[in-house]
Amino acid sequence: MQIDSDIFPSYDLAPGRVLAVESSCDETAAAVVENGRIIHSNIVASQASLHAQYGGVFPEVASRQHIRVIYSIIEQSLKKAHVSLGDLDAIAVTRGPGLPGSLVVGVNIAKGLAIASGLPLIGVNHLEAHLYSAWLYEVGQQPKLEIEFPLLVLIVSGGHTELVLMEDHLKYRSLGMTLDDAAGEAFDKVARLLNLEYPGGPSIQKAAENGNADAFDFPRAWLEGNWNFSFSGLKTAVLREIQKIKASRRPIPVQDIAASFQKAVVDVLVGKTIKAAEEFSAKHILVAGGVSANRCLRQEFQERSKYPLHIPSLDLCTDNAAMVAAAGYHRFTRGQRDNMAMDVLPNWPIAEL
Ligand code: KG4
Ligand code: ZN
Repeated sequence: MQIDSDIFPSYDLAPGRVLAVESSCDETAAAVVENGRIIHSNIVASQASLHAQYGGVFPEVASRQHIRVIYSIIEQSLKKAHVSLGDLDAIAVTRGPGLPGSLVVGVNIAKGLAIASGLPLIGVNHLEAHLYSAWLYEVGQQPKLEIEFPLLVLIVSGGHTELVLMEDHLKYRSLGMTLDDAAGEAFDKVARLLNLEYPGGPSIQKAAENGNADAFDFPRAWLEGNWNFSFSGLKTAVLREIQKIKASRRPIPVQDIAASFQKAVVDVLVGKTIKAAEEFSAKHILVAGGVSANRCLRQEFQERSKYPLHIPSLDLCTDNAAMVAAAGYHRFTRGQRDNMAMDVLPNWPIAEL
């Protein structure tokens, strides 16, 4: 394995190679990452097609599928990185938040690997992992622009919408979160209303491509005076519109509704994030989590943000283990060690870190 330790110009950290395991929802993943940044392997097995028939993640099916494939995914990630356990410095695993039955699969296999190898075990918060995805790059490449603190972070995933001020590595101040549905959850629920396939985010994005984003004036919950979000009113407005159109026996303009809904979500996410960056004098903005794969969101940030912007590449936006290795590396170098009694934390807010 190629070693590149000269990548922290302003941040004095020991070199370290981490194997990480991720199984918090419906992706089974394993990765080998060096120094929290260089991806040597990043293997992801998505269960999306398995859950599509249910219109969402079926927890029992998810945990059983993790058990079926996780050994092979870990083997593949070690093989692709050309390493064995003896070449590594730590084993990181997503401890939460996520589906309890799914988390247990990853945590137990990570414990087994830690016992077998004698390597330290590091439990990682999935949201912290998402934000560390922005530091990753493929072996042989270089980061385009170094990330600077204070950093305004927007995490938008299937289960979370969080606005966080990051003053340094591992130092977070939670500014706001969703009061009801997460942004990704809103995409998934509205996709279901429109009879679009799960996962809803990519389906809405695709349908929206040929739609008119101004066709419907859906509500934007700005929640002035705080940094929280709310998407349930928007979801209800979409439902009412669909009911109204159905009652009048007109065809549902799926593309226009998808585009107008997407625009409403993106408007609020981008608007509030940029406002918070101004308010808290952030140097850079970082956007991460599954919804950060959304083309409209990425474009809107590029156009409206005067702050240097960090959004992970598309394959690192959705769940993967490289991001868990990145966050795990920082926890490892700061001395975190977990033991065999480590339990999963299905609800684990970033504010508790
Ligand atoms: O981060 P993630 O893979 O899993 C969680 O930690 O939740 O995020 C999954 C969420 C789903 O709600 C999915 O619909 C959404 O991210 N998503 C998208 C896109 N790709 C995935 N939402 C909007 N546009 C996309 N292109
Ligand atoms: Zn996630």
